[in-house]
Amino acid sequence: MLQARPVRLHAPRFALAVSLLGLAACWSEPQEAGAPPPLPDPSFDEDAVRRGHESFVRYCALCHGENAEGYIVDNAPALGNADFLRVASDDFLRTAIAEGHASTPMSAWHRDRGGPLGDAQIAEMITYLRSLTDEPRADTSGTRIEGDAARGATLFAEHCAVCHGALGEGVNATSLNSEVFLRTANDGFVRDTIARGRRGTPMQGWDDELSSSDIDALTTFVRTLAPRTLPPAAPMGPPPPDLDHLVLNPDAPRAEFTARDDRFVPGADVLAAIEAGQRFILLDARAPSDWAASHLPGAAPFPFYDATQLVSHITDPDTWVIAYCACPHGASGHVVDAVRAAGHSRAAILDEGIGWWIQQGHPTERGSVP
Ligand code: HEC
Ligand code: HEC
Repeated sequence: MLQARPVRLHAPRFALAVSLLGLAACWSEPQEAGAPPPLPDPSFDEDAVRRGHESFVRYCALCHGENAEGYIVDNAPALGNADFLRVASDDFLRTAIAEGHASTPMSAWHRDRGGPLGDAQIAEMITYLRSLTDEPRADTSGTRIEGDAARGATLFAEHCAVCHGALGEGVNATSLNSEVFLRTANDGFVRDTIARGRRGTPMQGWDDELSSSDIDALTTFVRTLAPRTLPPAAPMGPPPPDLDHLVLNPDAPRAEFTARDDRFVPGADVLAAIEAGQRFILLDARAPSDWAASHLPGAAPFPFYDATQLVSHITDPDTWVIAYCACPHGASGHVVDAVRAAGHSRAAILDEGIGWWIQQGHPTERGSVP
């Protein structure tokens, strides 16, 4: 099981910026004019922050941004946000990172789930995130809210569904109905977020507009949303193909694709190539935990963060390479760029992404990763 590791709270932002030259760009908020800089804290674990930031840049920045500012890909939230870190416990962060939010671009990152990270790396990332704000934290674990859920449903449809979706499935904001979120965000977390909002993000605070009992009602409604079901934990299918046998149907005629904007191939064309048993390479750009849960038939795990090292396995320049992800263009775009940088121009992104593919009922397979 995942072990709790103590992390230092409220690291002074200024001290950090001074001591970690490489991170100086992280802090865009100016110090208040005339305010004395906070004193450096001697107990502060700079090495853990540095390592945590390095891992964060490698695995998370694609979507959440190099400095956890959020919104680089789709609706990846602002993890360095002080209003978020105020209520997100270490356990909340650890569970979200380790287990992911199923059916969203947020993968499961722990090795137990087929991801690349162990407990120590996840703990260091949390230390890094904690270092991004020195605002005080709130312990919401003891707060119990019993609002009027029916009233909450009406208010939610009126004010919230436009961004979060009628069922909390997420439209242009985070989902609220992932099993992991509902398990780890307590009443106090949800209420505080609705009331205060998250500064600098599209999530406004509602305490001016709605009464306290309305916010309680919304809290209870959100807390009782029906969770989306999780896929079973890996392993659950055959292991990934050998990296030196990435080519599908090596003896069949080559698939030919026409890429819009020299970059995007429609999913229907990829389906046709699979059904016709043509020769091409299909790469799953997400974390291998996602590949294990559900991938396109014949696709190989080719996680975006390892793409530059893995491209040497793509040898035949005439064989098309199609990459896909859930984002739907972020991780796959990164893989396509790496493949092209290696001199292989016939590479494109599956335009609609795997979310669309699954919704269409197109065939998928499961796998297992060590
Ligand atoms: C491919 C894009 C992508 C990558 C890479 C990614 N995330 Fe996420 N992450 C998301 C999205 C999108 C969400 C919102 C999920 C939802 O709608 O439920 C999210 C949610 C989260 C949350 C929950 C936040 C909240 O408010 O509930 C945490 C914590 C998190 N990510 C941390 C990480 C860390 C740490 C990494 C790197 C190990 C990472 N993410 C990599 C896209 C990504
Ligand atoms: C304009 C779009 C928008 C509207 C309207 C909106 N939200 Fe949000 N909400 C967001 C975004 C974006 C986030 C994530 C912000 C971040 O952390 O980067 C969020 C975050 C949240 C979270 C925390 C989710 C998590 O995983 O941490 C909750 C709870 C929430 N909203 C509830 C509500 C409720 C209830 C309403 C209606 C009263 C509402 N929101 C209205 C955009 C919106």
